[in-house]
Amino acid sequence: MPGTRWINLLIEQDCRLEICTEKKTILSVEDILALIGDKCDGVIGQLTEDWAETLFSALSRAGGKAFSNMAVGYNNVDVNSATKYGIAVGNTPGVLTETTAELAASLSLAAARRIVEADEFMRAGLYDGWLPHLFVGNLLKGQTVGVIGAGRIGSAYARMMVEGFKMNLIYYDLYQATRLEKFITAYGQFLKSNGEEPVTWRRATSMDEVLREADLISLHPILDKTTYHLVNKERLSKMKKEAILINCSRGPVIDEVALVEHLKANPMFRVGLDVFEDEPYMKPGLAEMKNAVIVPHIASASKWTREGMATLAALNVLGKIKGYPVWSNPNSVEAFLDEKSPPPAACPSIVNSKALGLRISKL
Ligand code: GLV
Repeated sequence: MPGTRWINLLIEQDCRLEICTEKKTILSVEDILALIGDKCDGVIGQLTEDWAETLFSALSRAGGKAFSNMAVGYNNVDVNSATKYGIAVGNTPGVLTETTAELAASLSLAAARRIVEADEFMRAGLYDGWLPHLFVGNLLKGQTVGVIGAGRIGSAYARMMVEGFKMNLIYYDLYQATRLEKFITAYGQFLKSNGEEPVTWRRATSMDEVLREADLISLHPILDKTTYHLVNKERLSKMKKEAILINCSRGPVIDEVALVEHLKANPMFRVGLDVFEDEPYMKPGLAEMKNAVIVPHIASASKWTREGMATLAALNVLGKIKGYPVWSNPNSVEAFLDEKSPPPAACPSIVNSKALGLRISKL
C-alpha cells in the first residue's frame, strides 16, 4: 500500500506488521489463508479479494477481530459472514470522493472530445493538416448531465460538471440530494445575476427518465443485487444516439456484452469506463471500439487519496484491535488524515458497526 504513514501508525502502537510481497496482482482465497496463518489480529485487504465465510472463519480462528478493505466499495466482502464471527469490516470513504469524481469528469471530457482517438491519430503520424471535420465531438455547455446515484461521488461529479461546464443536471436517487440541489439553485442565481444563462436541476422519478433526457450520464450506484446489469440492452436503447455513458462505480452495473453491441451499432454513442464486468478482463470486442475510452480502475488513483486510503484502512483495523469506538461521521475523516497530529482514537469507518453493537465516538 502507498506511503509510510500507515506503517508508522501501526508500529508506533506496538503492532507487528506483515506485508505481503507476493508478485501476483490478485491473491486467491488459498493465498490469503496461508498469509493469515494461525495468529492474526486483523487484515487490510484489497477489493480484488473474495472475503467471505472461508476467510472470515479462518481469521476468527487466528484470533482476528478486524478486516478493512482499502476501498470505499465493499461488494467483495460478505459483511454478514464477518458479523457472524464478530469481525469488524472497515472501508475508506471521504478521502476518495473528489479524486474519483475528477476521473469521471476526465473520462467525460475524453469521450466528448475524442481525446484518445485523436492522440492515437497523432502518434500514428496521420495528421496532415487542419480539417473542419477532424475529430468533431460534443459540446457540453448547456447540455444535460445525468447522474444515477447522487451520493458522495455522484454529487461531487454533478457539481464539477454543472459548475465547470455549465451543464444542467437531472439525477436519479432513492434519496433526495438536498445539498446538491441547493448548491445548483444558488449557482444558477449567481449566473443569472451575472447576465448568464442559469443552470438548472431536476430529480427524476425514474432512472429511465435520466437515460432518455441526458446527453452525458455517469453511473454512481453501489453494486448489489439491485444494481447488477442496471444498464442493459433495453436501457441502452433508451439513451440518445449521441449520448455519452461513464462508469467509475463497479463493472457489473453495466451488461458489458450488450454495451459492446450498442457501441458497434451506434458509432456516435461514446463510453468512458474505469471498471469492467470481469476485471481484469474485458468482454470481447470492447478493446477494438474507437468510441470507448477505457482505463484500468484508477478512479481513486491520486497520491494523496491512495495514501489516505491506506491510512484509513490501517486505522480501522488498529482501532478495532485497541477497542476504540467508531467515528461518528465517516464522511468527515479529515482528522485522521492530518499528518501533523496523531489521529483520533477511533475507527474511521466500520460498515457493520451497528450489527456488532460497537460504541460511537464522542470526539
Ligand atoms: C475503488 O473502486 C473503491 O471502491 O475504493
